[in-house]
Amino acid sequence: MIILGIESSCDDTALAWLDNGQDVLGSCVTSQISSHSPYGGVVPELAARDHLSCLPALFSELMAQSQRHPNFCLSRWQGIAVTQGPGLLGSLLVGYEFAQGLALSSQLPLIGVDHVLAHFHGVFVDLAMEGKKPHFPALGYVVSGGHTHLFRLRSMVDIDLIAHTIDDACGECFDKVGGMLGLPYPGGPHIEKLATSGNPLAYPMPEVMAHKKSLQLSYSGLKTYVYNLVNKLKLDQPEGELPHQTVCDMAASFQREAFLQLTRKLEGALIQFPDTVAIYVCGGVACNQVLHQMVAELAIKHGLIWSMPQPSLCTDNAVMIASMGYHQLMSDVNGDLMAAHTSAPYTRLRLRVT
Ligand code: KG4
Ligand code: ZN
Repeated sequence: MIILGIESSCDDTALAWLDNGQDVLGSCVTSQISSHSPYGGVVPELAARDHLSCLPALFSELMAQSQRHPNFCLSRWQGIAVTQGPGLLGSLLVGYEFAQGLALSSQLPLIGVDHVLAHFHGVFVDLAMEGKKPHFPALGYVVSGGHTHLFRLRSMVDIDLIAHTIDDACGECFDKVGGMLGLPYPGGPHIEKLATSGNPLAYPMPEVMAHKKSLQLSYSGLKTYVYNLVNKLKLDQPEGELPHQTVCDMAASFQREAFLQLTRKLEGALIQFPDTVAIYVCGGVACNQVLHQMVAELAIKHGLIWSMPQPSLCTDNAVMIASMGYHQLMSDVNGDLMAAHTSAPYTRLRLRVT
């Protein structure tokens, strides 16, 4: 069974064909970073227009790519999985209307997928590529530019939200701190690179939410702390520019505390859910190798299995959407949107902390 995945919730346009929920027959992603970087963040109006202009060409590119794949056959196409939300309304509408048009013309089911939950399918497809299966019950983070959410997973589609950031997302904080340090947007990968030459203990950072028993997270306080520190350090510089080594030390110190908060809360969740057997971390920030190392250390300490996908399956992609759509179709969860008549994209997270 081949499923087409369509992703357009934010600033990446992506399409993919997935066979039997695990074999990638074709995958294309177009990033809009160059459109948004002059503004230091995603401009919703520009994002929607970019999706609209690039989707038809991307579909042709996907067709060309998959036609070269020996297992691709249009007669085995059985459904269209599309990101239904959360995301930017204009961006979601472009992908959703494109999917609806394809569903109408092909008479195939249209499957609405939650973008945040779908990130875990980046992990599941990555495991399948290595011939491995996920283990449950698991704890998992989605850590991206828009989300820092902690989940309990009982199966590939039975996933409960147990905590989330009460303000900024971790990736958003990386991007804002990157801006403060004079780095290009998005700041996350640049901070990781500079941090390799920095001392993570050079600038002690506040341990955010450390005293709280609650699993909720917060990144706005850490962001403000770095903002004030950068401004204070700049005052001591004759040109008002931070020396390169100071920037590296700041990057390493900030990165350390940003990730320590994630592992602290994960340890708290392990106490609440002692039957946990695996840890899965995904979303754009999961590209970070220091985070890989910290999650691995925590998992080894607690005798757990862990996995974080390869970078192309961490950041936004359509393979994860197609995989989640396939498993929804198989388990009859949120099936055909065309039959529901009243369906529409949603902008805000629908999940509630359980
Ligand atoms: O999942 P994603 O592609 O898009 C959404 O936000 O949904 O994640 C993008 C975020 C950005 O905030 C970016 O700075 C962050 O992921 N990111 C990283 C790294 N690579 C991407 N953050 C830290 N270290 C990285 N290596
Ligand atoms: Zn995402």
